Amino acid sequence: MLRRGFLSRINAAQWSRQMSVVAKSLKYTQHGEPQEVLQLVEDKLPDPKDNQVLVKILAAPINPADINTIQGKYPVKPKFPAVGGNECVAEVICVGDKVKGFEAGQHVIPLASGLGTWTTHAVYKEDQLLIVSKKVGLAEAATSTVNPTTAYRMLKDFVQLCPGDTVIQNGANSAVGQAVHQLCRAWGINSVGIVRDRPEIAELKQMLQCLGATEVLTEAEIRTSDIFKSGKLKKPRLAFNCVGGKSATEVSRHLDNGGVLVTYGGMSREPVTVATGPLIFKDIAFRGFWMTRWSKENYSSPERFENVQGDLRADGAGKVRGPQP
Ligand SMILES: NC(=O)c1ccc[n+]([C@@H]2O[C@H](COP(=O)([O-])OP(=O)(O)OC[C@H]3O[C@@H](n4cnc5c(N)ncnc54)[C@H](OP(=O)(O)O)[C@@H]3O)[C@@H](O)[C@H]2O)c1
Repeated sequence: MLRRGFLSRINAAQWSRQMSVVAKSLKYTQHGEPQEVLQLVEDKLPDPKDNQVLVKILAAPINPADINTIQGKYPVKPKFPAVGGNECVAEVICVGDKVKGFEAGQHVIPLASGLGTWTTHAVYKEDQLLIVSKKVGLAEAATSTVNPTTAYRMLKDFVQLCPGDTVIQNGANSAVGQAVHQLCRAWGINSVGIVRDRPEIAELKQMLQCLGATEVLTEAEIRTSDIFKSGKLKKPRLAFNCVGGKSATEVSRHLDNGGVLVTYGGMSREPVTVATGPLIFKDIAFRGFWMTRWSKENYSSPERFENVQGDLRADGAGKVRGPQP
């Protein structure tokens, strides 16, 4: 067994004299339903050269967009054969001889999207990775580049919010929704969540309130609720929609004058319908957000690093917890 002190200095040449790595990956060569097109494939990986980094994947989530990518229903079209997955946390095993910023044993997350992370091991390029502290939990690190960053950008980029303001969202138990609640609590913003009814609704409401939701209402409850009319909470200036259809219409009805509804997902697969009254009389605006686009446009910007490493993890009350079931 290799000792850690030795491991931290190891490079690809030293590594290759000792062992090579066989990666087990979930690959697909055509679009379709994941259970039909994904295959477990073994590949012997080449030793990392130049600026390449060999990593062992420690955890990799399944996001709705990963499924849509495999189905061919997502704007990102991978080259075949493709490895599924877009996010992970990995441990550096060894590095090519031109790599300056990484060493064996460090934890890293992908800075680039579409790398293919549903695999045991991979060779990535140095500039596709970002080091994360080992103090960050594996679940939090593995899910840090898509959902919490989406929540963070949507809260920052559309409306200038102040403590005491209110944000409303549907799909409030989604991974993005959970991050929204936590960031709102850290920033003193009221977070109203709308969820679908279910037998264990009381437990779900309690879980979301523990994360930071101010109020959690079912789709039926929000229609009759007077939390805004009564003045208990300020009318929302910002709303998030990941569902579409009637749910989006209902959310938009609660916006204050000049409020903005940001659509970032379409889980119901129904179009966003706009109620005419609020559009005319309150001049509400409908916007869209796509993290992949934002990340490409801001690949090396300081805000990008702030998203993943800075404010997001150290903000106010503490870290953003990984998604709860
Ligand atoms: N635009 C971007 O940059 C961006 C970034 C991240 C995520 N997203 C999108 O945001 C959405 C949520 O992602 P996530 O990873 O946070 O999801 P997630 O944790 O898997 O949660 C999915 C959410 O969607 C709800 N849902 C599922 N099917 C539904 C339906 N037919 N009608 C109404 N609600 C439904 C679920 O509610 P139940 O518990 O009631 O099933 C749950 O709240 C996805 O569409 C994803 O692609 C977009």
